[in-house]
Amino acid sequence: MSFNTFGHLFRVTTFGESHGAAIGCVVDGCPPNLRFTVEEVQAALDRRRPGQSRFTTQRREPDEVKVLSGTLEHPEGGLVTTGTPIALLIENVDQRSKDYADIAGAYRPGHADFTYDVKYGIRDHRGGGRSSARETATRVAAGAIAAKVLPGVSVRGAVVRIGEIEIDRSRWDWDEVQNNPFFCPDPKTVPLWEEYLDAIRKAGSSIGAVVELVAEGVPPGLGAPLYGKLDADLASALLGINAAKGVEIGEGFNAARLTGEANADEMRLGNEGHPQFLSNHAGGILGGIATGAPIVARFALKPTSSILTPRRTVDRTGQETEIFTKGRHDPCVGIRAVPVGEAMMWCVLADHLLRHRGQVGEGVKWPFGGTTM
Ligand SMILES: Cc1cc2nc3c(=O)[nH]c(=O)nc-3n(C[C@H](O)[C@H](O)[C@H](O)COP(=O)(O)O)c2cc1C
Repeated sequence: MSFNTFGHLFRVTTFGESHGAAIGCVVDGCPPNLRFTVEEVQAALDRRRPGQSRFTTQRREPDEVKVLSGTLEHPEGGLVTTGTPIALLIENVDQRSKDYADIAGAYRPGHADFTYDVKYGIRDHRGGGRSSARETATRVAAGAIAAKVLPGVSVRGAVVRIGEIEIDRSRWDWDEVQNNPFFCPDPKTVPLWEEYLDAIRKAGSSIGAVVELVAEGVPPGLGAPLYGKLDADLASALLGINAAKGVEIGEGFNAARLTGEANADEMRLGNEGHPQFLSNHAGGILGGIATGAPIVARFALKPTSSILTPRRTVDRTGQETEIFTKGRHDPCVGIRAVPVGEAMMWCVLADHLLRHRGQVGEGVKWPFGGTTM
């Protein structure tokens, strides 16, 4: 199985299966002399960890990360990168492979079982093996390292829709996101989602969601026109997350409803004499290149495929059968996808910062003079 790597200069390779001994990643190309702590990486993983509320899977994985290489102890505490490959390891401790014994031969609808078999002729049926979203923990660990490449940048994510219930954007409060189990920025939507998701969970069903990501402080100029577009790379990274079925940048699909006047992000000179956009329909990217405005991306996640209701399928011997899922699963995978989306955005931005430096050097070259950022 090839293609376990993403990124060009900030390159992440992940390995491991859901029910194997461990999962992990190697971050290659990280610049030297960046300080970080294991606790920071762990804190990122803890936000994605399962079993933290009744709305996520009850699989109990401590997701304890070990840094195996690529760093030295910093004399003032924590670690410092040396510029060599950083290997991050997370051991699997709560596998219940017998949950999957009954379904080893049948293809679970909505899962990668059939496609793995048709491609490789062999698959690890225990929890989906490599296709399991357990692999996304390693991306979160890599994202915590990527964040160190981008001081002064923030990347934040929130769930903005679960099934039919969308947040009210006028009540958006980033501080609320860590106060509820849904990463919801609108406090009044929280009880609605609680009731809605409880009913779905009790029925053994599942539901989809939309996650919104916002990166602020991204220097203008990151990205490249045509084949290295920042928006295209972001879309690829986000669509690479398990269960992601759609990505929008800025207005996204809504842009199709707008007139040119409504969609134009008009410009004026800001306080420092630098151009400033009066709106951000573009989602912070024009011609594949960051404008300096916040980068806004949304991705849609399908409902969890593993549900209690029997679904029709076929098995490896060519028999028609029915299947339902006994294991432990998230009723809405969109919730735990928030830290994963943030991590992918960090990795893409870190990669593009290094690519930008490689081509045009440090800083921002404002078109009509002025200082660099
Ligand atoms: C954080 C996260 C957790 C997930 N957990 C589950 C799960 O418990 N049960 C499930 O059926 N799918 C889960 N998924 C989705 C599956 O991994 C995914 O649908 C499956 O591998 C097929 O891939 P695809 O949907 O990308 O085509 C999860 C996805 C994410 C992002």
